[in-house]
Parts: sequence; C-alpha cells; structure tokens
Amino acid sequence: MIKQLFNIKIGYASIKNPIAVAPMAGITDSGFAAKFGNAGLVVLGGYNLDAKTNDAARKEISRGRKEFVSDEPMDLLKKELKASHDLTRIAVNVRAASLEPFVEAARLIKDSGAILEINAHCRQPEMLELGVGEALLRDLPRLCEYIGEIKKTGVVVSVKTRANVVNDVELAKAIEKAGADIIHIDAMHPDGMDVGVIKRVRNSTNLFIIGNNSVVDFESAKDMFSYGADMVSVARGLLEEPRLIDNLVDEISAIQSMTGWYNAPKHICGGGDLRALAFCCLPVKPCALHAALKQAGMSAEEFMKLKMDFVRGTPLEPGDGTCFGSMTWCCKITKPCFLRDSTLTQTGVSDIEYMQFKKKLSEYLMKKRKR
Ligand SMILES: Cc1cc2nc3c(=O)[nH]c(=O)nc-3n(C[C@H](O)[C@H](O)[C@H](O)COP(=O)(O)O)c2cc1C
Ligand code: SF4
Ligand code: SF4
Repeated sequence: MIKQLFNIKIGYASIKNPIAVAPMAGITDSGFAAKFGNAGLVVLGGYNLDAKTNDAARKEISRGRKEFVSDEPMDLLKKELKASHDLTRIAVNVRAASLEPFVEAARLIKDSGAILEINAHCRQPEMLELGVGEALLRDLPRLCEYIGEIKKTGVVVSVKTRANVVNDVELAKAIEKAGADIIHIDAMHPDGMDVGVIKRVRNSTNLFIIGNNSVVDFESAKDMFSYGADMVSVARGLLEEPRLIDNLVDEISAIQSMTGWYNAPKHICGGGDLRALAFCCLPVKPCALHAALKQAGMSAEEFMKLKMDFVRGTPLEPGDGTCFGSMTWCCKITKPCFLRDSTLTQTGVSDIEYMQFKKKLSEYLMKKRKR
C-alpha cells in the first residue's frame, strides 16, 4: 500500500492533498472538475436547491451572469455527485431559501461521501433578497440553526464565508459551536487579500480552515498556509492558468516531503499564529511571546511547564549545546542553526521527525489554550 504523504481527514472525508478548486456558479460542474482530479478537493457549484433560488439565478442569467439552473435541482445534484464520484474528494456548494432543501441535499451528499458547503458568500442582489448567501452572515442565529439541523444527517459541513463583512472571529466561533467542520474563507478585503483573517480564525477556533482569494502561484498559497490555513482553494486563477492546481500540488508535496509539516507557522515574532508557540524560546526576554501568551490565556510559568512536560522522553528533550539547553525551545527547521542541527545529528533525529514532534507539541499547546 502506498503511504499517504498528507494525513488530512475531516470526519469520514479523507483528503489526498491540501489544494482545492473553489466553486464558481455556472462554471464548476462535474465536466469542469474532470480536469482537476489531481486536487485534494473540488467544490462543485454553487447549485440552487429550490424554486426560489433557481428563479433568482434565472434573473441573474438574464443580466449576463453565469449560474446553474434546474427545474429538478435534487436530480441535478444526484447526477453531478455520480459523475464526479471517482474523481477526488468532492464538496458541493449550495444555496436555498429555507432549511428543508439543505437537509434533503445533505442526505444525498453524505451518501456519496462528499461534503456539503453552505453558501454564505454570494452577494448577488436577487439572492440577498431571499436571505440567501452573504445574508446568512448577518443572520447568525439562522445560519447556526441550519448548520445544527444539517449536521443531524451526519454530513461533513463546510461554510463558505466572505471576510470583513461581519466580525470574522465571532462568526467562526459561532459556526464552530453550531457544529460546522470547515470554514472556507474568502479572505477578501477592499484593499486586497487579507491573510490576517486566516490567522485570527486559526487563533480562536479548531475549525479546519480553507483559505481562499487571489491565489495565483505558490507564494500566495504559502502565505495562507503559514498563517494557519489547512487547505488553500483557487477559483479565478484556474481560468487564467489551468495548470495552477498541478503546480500547487507539486510544490506543497515537496514542502511536506522535506519538512513533514506543510503548513507550519511563521515564528511568533515573524507574525505567526499561536501554533508557533512550539518554536518559542524560554520566556526570559521582552518579546512578542508575552502578547501571544496573553492571547492564549497562559502565564509564562504555565507555558514553560506545559512545554517541558510534553517533551519529556521525546526527541525534543536533548539539546545541551542549544541556546536554552533543550530543543523544546528551538526554532523552525527552516531557520539555519548549527547548534540545533548538531544535536539532531548526535541524537539521530531527522529534520522531518523534529518538525513532526514540534507539530505534536503545537497541537498540545493549542488544546491547552483558553478560548
Ligand atoms: C464566476 C464566479 C462564480 C462564483 N460563484 C461562487 C459560488 O457559487 N459560490 C461561492 O461560494 N463562491 C463563488 N465564487 C467565489 C469564489 O469561490 C472565490 O471565493 C472568489 O472568486 C475568490 O477566490 P479567487 O481569488 O481564487 O477567485 C465565484 C467566483 C467567480 C469568479
Ligand atoms: S520567544 Fe523567541 S521565537 Fe518566540 S517571539 Fe520571542 S524571540 Fe520570537
Ligand atoms: S539553538 Fe538555534 S534553533 Fe535553538 S533556539 Fe538557539 S538559535 Fe534557535
């Protein structure tokens, strides 16, 4: 059996790599998706699940927008799920003017092993008038009720949001509490892409994060990964350059093979999210660590104890020759350091093992933070 390079699993949905195709209404159907089987996830849609949203979409088409419309929306959904079933992991971005069509679709989507994505993103006036799409961001009780009821079917649920419309942290916390598994964030900002929103959501929830907006090359994708995205999705970039998915998959696979932690954070002093506490020094000097600890609700003493207790007996414990006497306090492997590297050589620990233990330490610290 071939060993999976990435170990990504959300409920029943295992995912082969962290690169996704984002939904584009009127474009991203099973035929379009067929070109992107190399992606870890393809989000089909958005599909309209009832007569009201299909009528709204017809009005949009009459003014030149692309949309998928159908008089038999559940039949269309079944057909699309069947056509794309063996391609890769599939999610379906859906809109409806009431709860029931979401629940009906959820059963079909779950039976096919796919993910249901609630569209809380669309801002076309015809949809907003129905309380659909972005209107859900402004009606959190209704969005959360939808999530709770849809989750009762057992389907894996993603929520596609648009950043900087409401308070993104409050939104993410609410949808996590309601039971959502994934937040798919269009990190849109009036001045360009806002990668800070990914960091804010990473610091305050345990949701699986798909980062989206303006990814056109590996540099832009890497930014999202290092601020906390578990996965990155692409929409318009694919229309310009269909090979973008293959390129991103190749690059992120190379990072994972070399480091063992494809979305490792930047150091806290480099602007990284709270996962980077795993790379922080002993708290003995004035630096950005102290603000990060405050955010994590930890005292410096608790932080020291948590780290030391966790690394005892692991390959991170040694390090007499390092700055603070143990690799517990050592930097990311990508920061060149002969002191740490000679400890790794002496103890026979590879760079990948080092980073994998740092990742475990980071997960432990994130569990212990107060939210
Ligand atoms: C033509 C088009 C149609 C879109 N339709 C949807 C949709 O139905 N549902 C949705 O959640 N997002 C939709 N989006 C938004 C994209 O999924 C994505 O969030 C946005 O384009 C920003 O990502 P990008 O910079 O990679 O394009 C659409 C975008 C485009 C360009
Ligand atoms: S403790 Fe070290 S790594 Fe962490 S923020 Fe301070 S200087 Fe940077
Ligand atoms: S020994 Fe090197 S890796 Fe460890 S804390 Fe010092 S500078 Fe960082």
